[in-house]
Amino acid sequence: MNEAFRLKCPICGNSLAGDEKRLFCRNSHSFDIARQGYVNLLPVQNKHSLNPGDTKEMLLARRRFLDSGKYDPICRSVVDAIKQYAPSPAPVTADIGCGEGYYTAMIKRLCAAPCIGIDVSKDGARMACSRDKDILWLVATASSLPIENSSLDAVTAMFSLFLPEEYARVLKKGGCAVEITVGNRHLAELKKIIYEEVFEQDKHPVPCGGSFYEAEFKEHTFNIGLDNSGLRDLLMMTPHFWRIRKEKREALEQTDHLDLTVQYRVRVLIKK
Ligand SMILES: C[S@@+](CC[C@H](N)C(=O)[O-])C[C@H]1O[C@@H](n2cnc3c(N)ncnc32)[C@H](O)[C@@H]1O
Repeated sequence: MNEAFRLKCPICGNSLAGDEKRLFCRNSHSFDIARQGYVNLLPVQNKHSLNPGDTKEMLLARRRFLDSGKYDPICRSVVDAIKQYAPSPAPVTADIGCGEGYYTAMIKRLCAAPCIGIDVSKDGARMACSRDKDILWLVATASSLPIENSSLDAVTAMFSLFLPEEYARVLKKGGCAVEITVGNRHLAELKKIIYEEVFEQDKHPVPCGGSFYEAEFKEHTFNIGLDNSGLRDLLMMTPHFWRIRKEKREALEQTDHLDLTVQYRVRVLIKK
């Protein structure tokens, strides 16, 4: 395990050490490194369903879509934010809710960052291993990170949970949290197909609490064109996948091409 990573046991909170087969603490709690390379640090008591997080089918759709490069501007935004705000030229970074690992792998490569990718979905961590073997992929929950206090330079939450207290705990003073969320007009054209009426919700960011100050908050908009298979994959990456009615799904299946607005927000918070 990279020496830059300081992990703690999810059961007793003592430091974790590692060899080539497992991570372990001095209380003999031991966590095997799976054949694919990830480590499951999610104790059963923190597991609220049998297979929490995104399913394999959703993860595969996400991988196909992200590999198409359609969301590259989002990737550039997070990389630029880390380069500008992280307090180290090789920032130790945790990508929380990393899914199948696309952004984590990009952050590691483009920011020269030693990276930990964390997701509550075991299928996510397993799939992410094929992105980059030098990233430490963990199954764990964002609400109780198996990471020592004040040990990271950067935390990223790409369309995933933002938990200010827990993220502040693991960041060093001066470390940055980069959060990417969707804007009000994100995928408006897709929503028009899916819903009878589309209400524009004004989404507010999660309050950042007293441990952070806000260094940046910017909204970006760009357009993409998708063919039918791209649309199906994109739908599976969104919460609309769970809500879409049968007749609307059929309408979408008949759509050969759709031009879409992509709107996202980048918030950068600095640990005080
Ligand atoms: C919308 S996906 C985003 C995935 C990835 N960041 C991306 O943009 O491609 C949200 C991810 O958060 C994960 N997730 C949900 N709840 C979580 C939790 N409590 N702790 C860690 N990950 C969680 C899901 O399994 C899923 O992979």
